Amino acid sequence: MGLIKRLLYKTRKYYDDDFDWDNYTQSYQRRLKDNESQYRTISTKSQLSFDTATGKVKSEGAPIPPRQNLILEAIGLLAPSSVHEIGCGSGDNLANGMILFPKIRYTGGDRGHTQLELALSRHPQLKGQIGMQDITMPYSHLWPQADLVYTSAVTMHIHTAVSHFVALANMVRMAESYVLLIENWQCHNYVQDIQNMFKGGHLDWSSLYIHRLDGSTGARGILLSKFELKLPILHSDSQMREGAKASAQRLKRGDKDSARGLFGFIRSF
Ligand SMILES: C[S@@+](CC[C@H](N)C(=O)[O-])C[C@H]1O[C@@H](n2cnc3c(N)ncnc32)[C@H](O)[C@@H]1O
Repeated sequence: MGLIKRLLYKTRKYYDDDFDWDNYTQSYQRRLKDNESQYRTISTKSQLSFDTATGKVKSEGAPIPPRQNLILEAIGLLAPSSVHEIGCGSGDNLANGMILFPKIRYTGGDRGHTQLELALSRHPQLKGQIGMQDITMPYSHLWPQADLVYTSAVTMHIHTAVSHFVALANMVRMAESYVLLIENWQCHNYVQDIQNMFKGGHLDWSSLYIHRLDGSTGARGILLSKFELKLPILHSDSQMREGAKASAQRLKRGDKDSARGLFGFIRSF
């Protein structure tokens, strides 16, 4: 087979994640630096508070990243007994959660060994609470269970084969009550994929409500729950995408990812 044919053959069958996760930490550190020029990523106890009346997190001094703000507001709203972050990266979200809501049990997993090292160098208090975990592997009974399982900027980068479906199903199985996703909403057809997975019997819960949860500083989340909450219900992905400039490339890739899903058991007659 000639070179061009071989290249075409390869791109026909295989789909990659956005990054090589085994060599990701250097570029992640650059992103962290950019983020830190705008936001305070690590806070102290006196810098963060949660107002139960408004459901808002208040930050003294510099603002915290909007995605982190939404995670903390979700924890304040839902009051889970335990929280697990998939793809915990720098560990900042977990560490700030521990500061603001110290009675909750926190764990985190990441597939990158150097990502976990980075998290421990920034937050030594996470020792023993974070570990190696690939959420696209078949479900493991050794994974921590938690009341609330969340991701921030993780599944949006997962595009290998049907891995993002596997990740979503695993998160639901790990979660006793809630799954929160904070992602780029054009990278996958999240609402459609979750609806199809639930209908096809791929999600471990007997009931599922797909809500939209907005943070007070601009981040949007999809909140899955076993019971209906007093939040807007999502019926389509357009509700998550409204107001965002469309990226034709991302939307097309998301459609291709969705199209690889084969849901449930389709009997042949
Ligand atoms: C863009 S970073 C986001 C880190 C962190 N959640 C944040 O908000 O800053 C994506 C993280 O997901 C992790 N990751 C990627 N694929 C994963 C997988 N299959 N299982 C667990 N972690 C994964 C990466 O190693 C990386 O730390």
